[in-house]
Formats: sequence, structure tokens, C-alpha cells
Amino acid sequence: MKSLTVGIVLLAVAVSAQQSAYGQCGGTTYTGPTSCTAGYTCTSYNPYYYQCVPGMERSIVITTSTTTAKSSTTTVKSSTTTSISTSTGYPKTSGLFFDIDGKAEYYAGTNCYWCGFLTADGDVDQVFADIASSGLKIVRVWGFNDVNTIPSTGTVWYQYLSESGSQINTGAYGLERLDYVVSSAESHDIKLIINFVNNWSDYGGIAAYVAAFGGNSSTWFTDSASQAQYQAYIKAVVSRYTTSSAILSWELANEPRCSGCDVSVIYNWAAATSKYIKSLDPNHMVTIGDEGFGPTTGGDGSYPFTTSAGGYNWQTNLEIETLDFATFHLYPQSWGTSSTWGNLWITTHAAACVNASKPCLLEEFGYSDECSVESVWQSLSLDTTGMAGDMFWQYGDVLPSCNCETSQDGNTVYFNTTDWTCFVTNHIEAIEAKYG
Ligand SMILES: *[C@@H]1O[C@H](CO)[C@@H](O)[C@H](O)[C@H]1NC(C)=O
Ligand SMILES: *[C@@H]1O[C@H](CO)[C@@H](O)[C@H](O)[C@H]1NC(C)=O
Ligand SMILES: *[C@@H]1O[C@H](CO)[C@@H](O)[C@H](O)[C@H]1NC(C)=O
Ligand SMILES: *[C@@H]1O[C@H](CO)[C@@H](O)[C@H](O)[C@H]1NC(C)=O
Repeated sequence: MKSLTVGIVLLAVAVSAQQSAYGQCGGTTYTGPTSCTAGYTCTSYNPYYYQCVPGMERSIVITTSTTTAKSSTTTVKSSTTTSISTSTGYPKTSGLFFDIDGKAEYYAGTNCYWCGFLTADGDVDQVFADIASSGLKIVRVWGFNDVNTIPSTGTVWYQYLSESGSQINTGAYGLERLDYVVSSAESHDIKLIINFVNNWSDYGGIAAYVAAFGGNSSTWFTDSASQAQYQAYIKAVVSRYTTSSAILSWELANEPRCSGCDVSVIYNWAAATSKYIKSLDPNHMVTIGDEGFGPTTGGDGSYPFTTSAGGYNWQTNLEIETLDFATFHLYPQSWGTSSTWGNLWITTHAAACVNASKPCLLEEFGYSDECSVESVWQSLSLDTTGMAGDMFWQYGDVLPSCNCETSQDGNTVYFNTTDWTCFVTNHIEAIEAKYG
């Protein structure tokens, strides 16, 4: 998801009526209010659908913690050696499933984009302890945090991008925060998906590279200066964890799209980048992190099934040998489709995965936090050949350092709530009933 403030297109015209929270506020055929109620920002998800989303999310998690970040590099290194020798190896694919610790079956997980931005170790440990206690196995965290201006000490950033000299922050408020996430995941036997850049401008993203090196969000995929720095950043992150048992997969980007591009642009970029990652780290899997637009066999011709939605052909990308499995996301409300349309989205992707002999991961989905809708997708995914797992967007908890709740973006499911029972407890029981 374009988590929040993000990827936002501000509508220029002020209209007197204001749309309420999460209401539609724009789109090709839309005629209602185009400005949002206080605290919400009108965000373009596609040409057909703009939605009022909370405008302040970015500050929530980061500013609340006051505990000093501590160095954890040593912990990561020493603990990885131990966990590898006692486990059955790195997570890998096994047919249409993930083999994790020797068990090839269906896995459920969640998204915690902010986990690596927490500055209190105890908060990270609490989150992973809660997640692990529930039976969720996979957690996706943002492995990027790009800036064009170095923030004051105490604010987490991973990479400063500038034509006159970029910097990768390996310090206490830099990649050491990601180190702690990896070491805590190791201790709690959680497997991570870590990505390297955002299509959207929250936490920098492609826009931060464009600001530093020029071009635009479409030329980024072929711009030599941007790609050189992107690969340098990938190397800096991957080389820290090549022997960690906690990495499920590296991920090229969050929701890459290439507007107006031939589908070969993303295909070539994904092939080259995944090959580069495999050359750095042959131990771990690699995937794209895309929304799954443009599967060309099956579907109903709606916008998400077209290759122009993301500027790529999801089905053709399955051919890339250095990608181990396929990802897709599901947000009918943002895409102008219906909740039941989501069923077709799942079965179409799964069929292509079966055909390509690669697992499919539904790695993000949301429908205004409505479990009556989303539990149907979870059950369908569990029962559909080709599906290896699902991960709801997004995880919520209460952080011990501040006794405060993590970000609520309209799709947050908080640990140990009634929603949690529906989204997680029931689903884990169904998985256990099927696989023992
Ligand atoms: C990006 O720049 C290229 C080259 O100037 C141009 O052809 C293309 O239309 C631009 N795309 C976007 C999305 O701005
Ligand atoms: C994300 O991708 C789309 C398609 O290229 C583009 O229109 C949009 O501007 C991108 N977001 C950012 C923040 O660059
Ligand atoms: C199955 O895979 C082949 C390539 O191996 C491809 O040509 C064909 O279009 C795929 N069919 C489906 C339904 O995905
Ligand atoms: C979850 O909630 C129940 C009561 O609703 C409580 O007994 C239990 O201690 C909670 N678990 C955690 C880990 O907070």
C-alpha cells in the first residue's frame, strides 16, 4: 500500500464540500467533492479512483519513542551463526510453497512497514513476540528510508541521496535499526521480507532518487546514476544479512510502477536487479514486491488486469529465473473494483503461478479493515493451488516505550483485538487444521 502521506497527488482546486474520511475524492468519472475533511489528504491511486487518507501517518511511529537506539550489529552476527546451524537452512521454495524450517506448507504473515524505524529495542521485541505468539510467520518491513536532507539526530534514515555524494547511514539511527529488527526476528523465529525502494514518496522512494539524480519516476528504472546508487544501497543492506536465517526474501521495491512505459522496462530492470542480488547473496530468495497488475490470461478486462495499470506484465515477469516467487496485492476500494472481484484476482494469479511452477504470495490486502470481506480472501487463498501465503495490511500494536498505538491508516488490525481474532486467530486455526 502506498502507506499514507504518500504518492499523493494534491488536487489543486478547492471545492466547498469536503469528502469524509476514506471517501472517494476524485477519478475520471467522479463528480463529488474533491477536498477532504481535516487531517485527510486526497490521494490518487489510479486515474479512476482518488481516496481521502490520513495525512499525518508518517510522524506517528517515529516521533513517539524516546529510548536511545543501541548498537546491535554484533548481536546480529553472532546469533545468525547459531540459528543457521540449528535450523534446516534458509527459507526456500518447494514446489508451489515456501519451505521454512523444513516445513513446506501455507504460511500467513503481515506487514509492519515501520518496524525498522522504531528506535526502542523493546518495542521491536514486543512486536515480534506478539506476532510470533499468534502463529504468523512472515513479516514484511521497509528496508529503505531515503532522504534528500539529513534529518537531525534521533530521526531514523537509511540513505541520503545527492548528486554530489550520497551516504548510507550505518549508524545508530540508520541501518543499526534494521539490524535490530533482523536479530529480533531471528530470536522469535519470524521470517522477513525486506525491500529496497518505494515507488511512492513516503520514506523517500523513487522520488528521492529523481530529486538527486534527475529524470522522472519512469526513467528511474533505466537511469544509470539512480540505478548505480540503488545497487550500492542494495549491496550495503544485503551484505549485512547474507547468513541470517531470518530473511525469507529480498524484494526489489514496494509496488513498482512505470507510467507510460513499455512492459520491457520493468521486466529488464527486475531481471537485472534480481540477478545482481543473487550474485551478492545466493542464500536467499528474491521477489519483486509489485501489485500484480496485468496478468494477461484470464481476468475480466478491468483496469488492474491491464498492463497499463502498472506498466508491466505480471505474467511475463514470472519467467525471470532469478525471481523465486511472485507477489501481488489486493485493494478493490482503491482500484474501483468490488470485494467479490478480489476472488477472481486471487484465482487468476494462482493459475498463472501454477503454470509457471512458482509460488504466489498475496503480500498485501485491505478492505477498510472489514474482516467479513477479507477473511473470504484468506480462506480462498488457503484453498487455491498456487497460493503459498497471505499477509494482511497492516499490523498494529501498542508500543511499550510510549504506551501508544502504532499507525492507523484505515486498514490496521491491532494485536489481541476482536478484529485480530477474525483476521489472525481464526485463519491460523484453519491453516493448522489443513496442515497440522
Ligand atoms: C519521463 O521523461 C521521459 C523522457 O523525457 C518522457 O518521455 C516521459 O513522458 C516522462 N514520463 C513521466 C511519467 O513523466
Ligand atoms: C509511482 O508510480 C506511478 C507510475 O509510474 C507514478 O505515476 C507515481 O508518480 C509514482 N509515485 C511517486 C511518488 O513517484
Ligand atoms: C503458461 O506458461 C507459458 C510459458 O511457460 C506461457 O506461454 C503461457 O502463456 C502460460 N499460460 C498461462 C495460462 O499462464
Ligand atoms: C490478550 O487479551 C487477553 C484478554 O482479552 C489477555 O488475557 C491476554 O493477556 C492478552 N495477551 C497479550 C499478549 O497481551
